Order: sequence, then structure tokens, then C-alpha cells
Amino acid sequence: NYIGIDLGTSAVKLLLMQGEGRILKIVNREYPISFPKPGWSQQNPEDWYQETIAGIEELLEGSDKSQVAGISFGGQMHGLVVLDEEDKVIRPAILWNDGRTAEESDYLNQEIGQETLAKYTANISFPGFTAPKILWMKRQEPENFARIRKIMLPKDYLAYRLSGVHCTDVSDASGTLLFDVEHRRWSQEMCEICGIQEGWLPRIYESYEAAGTLNPELAAKLGLSEQTVIAAGAGDNAAAAVGTGTVGDGACNISLGTSGTVFIAAEKFGADRFHALHSFAHADGSYHLMGCMLSAASCNKWWMDEIIGTKAYGKEQEKITRLGENHVYFLPYLMGERSPHNDPDARGTFIGLTMDTAREDMTQAVLEGVAFALRDSLEIARSLGISVTRSKICGGGAKSPLWKRILANVLNLKIDVLENEEGPALGGAMLAAVACKEYASAKQAAEAIVKIKETVEPEPELTALYEERYQQFREIYPACRQLFE
Ligand code: XUL
Repeated sequence: NYIGIDLGTSAVKLLLMQGEGRILKIVNREYPISFPKPGWSQQNPEDWYQETIAGIEELLEGSDKSQVAGISFGGQMHGLVVLDEEDKVIRPAILWNDGRTAEESDYLNQEIGQETLAKYTANISFPGFTAPKILWMKRQEPENFARIRKIMLPKDYLAYRLSGVHCTDVSDASGTLLFDVEHRRWSQEMCEICGIQEGWLPRIYESYEAAGTLNPELAAKLGLSEQTVIAAGAGDNAAAAVGTGTVGDGACNISLGTSGTVFIAAEKFGADRFHALHSFAHADGSYHLMGCMLSAASCNKWWMDEIIGTKAYGKEQEKITRLGENHVYFLPYLMGERSPHNDPDARGTFIGLTMDTAREDMTQAVLEGVAFALRDSLEIARSLGISVTRSKICGGGAKSPLWKRILANVLNLKIDVLENEEGPALGGAMLAAVACKEYASAKQAAEAIVKIKETVEPEPELTALYEERYQQFREIYPACRQLFE
């Protein structure tokens, strides 16, 4: 058996999978997130670790622990975790959706220059990436910066606590802006630019490679074998792509979680000449392009939990009957936006309210706004000549049949719904299985394990209505941009 650990933004999800892909159990454990200032977003790595260990215990209750051969991860990307010489965490982790580094990110893009960054890393800087966070620490917290001995990404902190090995994988390293994506190695030039000393960064593995084994004390505590393999794992989007079978040139996955991503697998390395999409390494040994919006399912969660005041999301959506005809638009930029605007100051907005606007029109506008914003990323891929006609889907938002229908029509894509939408946690377990040689490759694991349940087809009339509305949506952000500054 294999354990997949999805270290998310609101919770860790742990999944126990049998070698042939059957899922035996899933456990979720939440931890807090803090927003100490507008646009800041932090978490305590100790919380991740404690909940993960408690989660493994809960996951394995009543099962034969001797069967567990490997553990691996899908982890929230880009987060900066820093340890001192005693391996103590120096400050709370600064997360992927934190926008505090606008100045440092501008410095990198303007002073070092986007073309130079792209030459070194295949990407430009976005405030959520790791490198600008390191520059921020250097300027704003010099005493903390002086104590740094190890830098790691969120899931790598778990791997370190579980195995004692300081490792990362190619897909997650891609999101640091310290990594030469094409050649799959750290960029010396970027380390110099950010003042990073040799030895602070972890060793790089392919996502499906074994990095170490479970630390013996922990193995005894958990009742697991000391031979349990800890595989490097992947950033959550690449892990989700493995878990949804998004492998092979042009395969696409949409993730509707706290963030929203459009992930397009590519056999060969390629960068986005418009610098709007990320060009990262894939967990299956290849590459991918990805657009990432910072608030996706979290927009609906905010609207339902905080404003409407209900947990019955499905019931609220039942009142939505007139797709394609809404007069209300919503900009989903509650945490600023990454792709394609790269604007940490962008904010959420409702536009077009009238006296007859009903609550369900606004709920619908939230779901549509997220779909329109994902289409912004897909349009960039299309303008690069990439043809995408179908996609897998995963993440909490994918549970809504209405949202899937809206997406199919706004994006004009066939959406393949899987028997199992566990994305990163399943992908993590599959990567562990590859590391333990149960499968020869991530692709082979995906072919054996991932099954399509049904396909949501775009409906021509609705696609046409949404095409018009999308063209209107595109005009709103440029018209509002000045107001956000
Ligand atoms: C991807 C990104 C998010 C996080 C979410 O670039 O920042 O999707 O990985 O956990």
C-alpha cells in the first residue's frame, strides 16, 4: 500500500491506496492560516507536521501497517520555509498566495529584467514565487535572513521531518524562480541574485524518485517499517495531473481548489513568450505550462460562508436556472491575481447590479467569474498555438455539477469527470508506487489507475452566449486597474 499526502492550504488530505489503485481510506485534517496584513498569507510548518502525523495514525487505524511500502506528496507550491543551524523554523512560512513581495518582484522583473529571468529559469517573477520572498526577508528581516541554513518548500519540510533528507522535486523547484526548468537544476545566477549560499537549497529529485526512508524513531511510533520509502513527490498541481491522468502532450487538467489552475502537459520544454503562464517541469519527467489564479473555489466559499451565511452550497446553486444570461459580473481577485495579470493589488468586484438583481444572480456571477478568469489563461495557451479541446477536472469546486457545466461552456471544452477526483493525494500515492517500482513510470500508473466516469460536453447555444459575455468580462479588469492601485 501507498500513502499520498496532499499538503493543502486549508487542510492536509491523506489517502491510502492499494498497489493496483483502489483507494482504501481518506482522512482530512485542517490547520489555521493567518492573514496578518492585507495580502499577507502565512502558516506554521509545525501545524503541517503535527496534523500529518495525526493524519497518518488515523489513516492506518485498523489496517495492516506492514503493507505500507511508500509515502509521497503533493504540496502547496512556492511557500518559503526557512530553517536555522539547529533545524528550527525561523519564521512562519510565507505562502503561494501572499502578495507582500510586490516591490521585490518588480525589482526582479524590471532591474534584472524579464528576459534575463526567463533565460535563467523559463519564468518571470510573480509575488507568490519563492525568490522574491527571499529578497523580502533579506530587506525586511535581516536578522532572520542571517540565520538561514536551509530553504525548502512546504511538502519538502514534511519529507525532511519524515526522513531527515533535505530534498525537493523538479516540479515544485520550478516554482521557486531559482530553478533552471529546461535543464532541471538550480540556477547559479539566480542564487547569486538572491544572496543564497551553496548548501541552503535541497537536492533535486524527479518526483517519482525515492529520496530516503522513514526515520526509525518515527517508524516505531507509527508502527511502520524503517524501509518505508519517502519519494520526493510533486507540487500539488503536478501531483494532481498525475492523479487525474494528465500526462502526455497536450493533456489538460483544471483544478478548482483554493487556487484555480489550468495545467497543460508538454513532452518538450517550452516557455510562454507572453510571460503570463508558468513554464514548469512535470512530475512524469516532462514539462508543462500552467496558468494559476489565486482565488477560485475560495471565491465561492467566501461568498457562501461569509456573505450569504450558508454551508448548503448545492442548495444555493439549485436556484440558478438561466445560464449565459446573467447581467452581473464578478472579478474574482480576492487575493490579487497571478495569471495572467500579475497584479497583487487587483481586488474582487461585482459589476452590473440593478434593482432586480437577486442573490442567485450574484452566486452565479461568482461561479462564472472564476470560469472567465480561467479562460484568460486558456486563451494565452491557445494564442501560443496549443490546441486544447478537453480537460480533466479536480478540486473541491469540481464537486458542483453546475460549475462543471459553466466551465465546459465558458472554456468550450469537453470536461472528463473522473471516477475519482482526489487529484494531488492520489497523485502522491501513485508517485510513491512508482518510486517502489510497482509501476515503471507515472504515465503507466495513470493508465492503470485513472478512469473517466462521464464527460460534460459544451452546448453550442450556451457556448455562444458565454462567448459574448466573456468578451465583456475581459474589458472589466483593464477599466478597473487604476482604482486598485
Ligand atoms: C500554483 C499555485 C497554487 C498552489 C496551491 O502555482 O501557486 O496552485 O500550488 O496550493
